[in-house]
Amino acid sequence: MSFIELKNICKKYKGNEKNSVTDFNLEIEEKEFIAFVGPSGCGKSTTLRMIAGFEDITSGDLLIDGKRMNEVAPADRGISMVFQNYALYPHMTVEKNISYGLKNMKFPEDEIKKKTDWAIEILGLEEYRYRKPKNLSGGQRQRVALGRAIVKDQKLFLMDEPLSNLDAKLRVSMRNEISKLHRSLGSTTIYVTHDQVEAMTMADRIVIMKDGIVQQAGEPMELYEHPINKFVAGFIGSPQMNFYDVRLEKGCMVFAGGETIRLADSVLGKLQGYDLVTMGIRGEDIKLDASNLETYGESKQKAVVENAEIMGNENNLYFEFGGLVSVARVPKYDVSQIGDEINFVFLPDKMHFFDTETGKSITEASGKA
Ligand SMILES: Nc1ncnc2c1ncn2[C@@H]1O[C@H](COP(=O)(O)OP(=O)(O)OP(=O)(O)O)[C@@H](O)[C@H]1O
Ligand SMILES: [Mg+2]
Repeated sequence: MSFIELKNICKKYKGNEKNSVTDFNLEIEEKEFIAFVGPSGCGKSTTLRMIAGFEDITSGDLLIDGKRMNEVAPADRGISMVFQNYALYPHMTVEKNISYGLKNMKFPEDEIKKKTDWAIEILGLEEYRYRKPKNLSGGQRQRVALGRAIVKDQKLFLMDEPLSNLDAKLRVSMRNEISKLHRSLGSTTIYVTHDQVEAMTMADRIVIMKDGIVQQAGEPMELYEHPINKFVAGFIGSPQMNFYDVRLEKGCMVFAGGETIRLADSVLGKLQGYDLVTMGIRGEDIKLDASNLETYGESKQKAVVENAEIMGNENNLYFEFGGLVSVARVPKYDVSQIGDEINFVFLPDKMHFFDTETGKSITEASGKA
């Protein structure tokens, strides 16, 4: 038995024609950090709010610790939640903001003090203890909001885009703090974000949603390396995976620009029965390393760099290939510039193949979506 079980959960809001969440199935183990990720409107918050009890479940079952929770009041589910637009009490100090919920829960005074001191320490808020929210930075306020949630010492921690109000640098440092906090507290966490980098870096497992439907659930690298459809492949990773619609002819892929690349027999075996497929390859799997290229012989390709994004640690080179603007991610030591001709290969074992009509992966075992 898993700690949390979502079984065929559906949500249809009154007045809406379509479901906002359809057939959501997931089992979450104790201490896991799960991220729900997906584009705006895909049903992340709705699912989280159904788990918290702020939204009715239209159909399906929610089990926590083996007990059905559908009709249990939010306060009795053993959950604490951090919302995207957390509101701190403006007239209360940091300390009071953190302890307020415990007072409401009628904890004894000495216990409230112990828990509040602990949260203030763990979140590095000691020197701000007596400040009011208006005299705190965004990151400090965010930590107070987290403090309010962790003192409740619940087994399940729900967070809905808790970092979306912060600037890029603060997001990165808060991301680390939340991960550290999770490691030290060990509370099971469900974290909603539309930021795939947050999901990749923080979560033990990621659930990718689209239009209210789970597309794939798995460990970050599993989703990155083995996306089971084109949506997942395109959603995870930056810059986005390159996708080409190619014809299969005489053992080769023929691109829209007329270029051809021979495919290995092992790949061809899997593509049997297809005339047209979508090939996907990540920027870092387009190799420009000239010294190794000879081993790839005839699959070597040429293009002219049209744009170069110099990121510092690495560069993104844009060029036209296969009738599309393509992007290769190269190490900073590569000195290719706009206008340069580049030679490259698509690493054969890094190509992904999707059914052009359905978007489903042809080469990855499906089943989870
Ligand atoms: N209270 C509501 N009444 C009716 N429809 C709603 C309500 N709340 C959400 N929806 C609809 O349900 C769908 C899912 O919304 P939800 O808020 O769960 O998306 P989300 O994935 O959290 O998006 P975002 O990233 O923008 O926060 C959307 O189409 C939305 O319009
Ligand atoms: Mg939301």
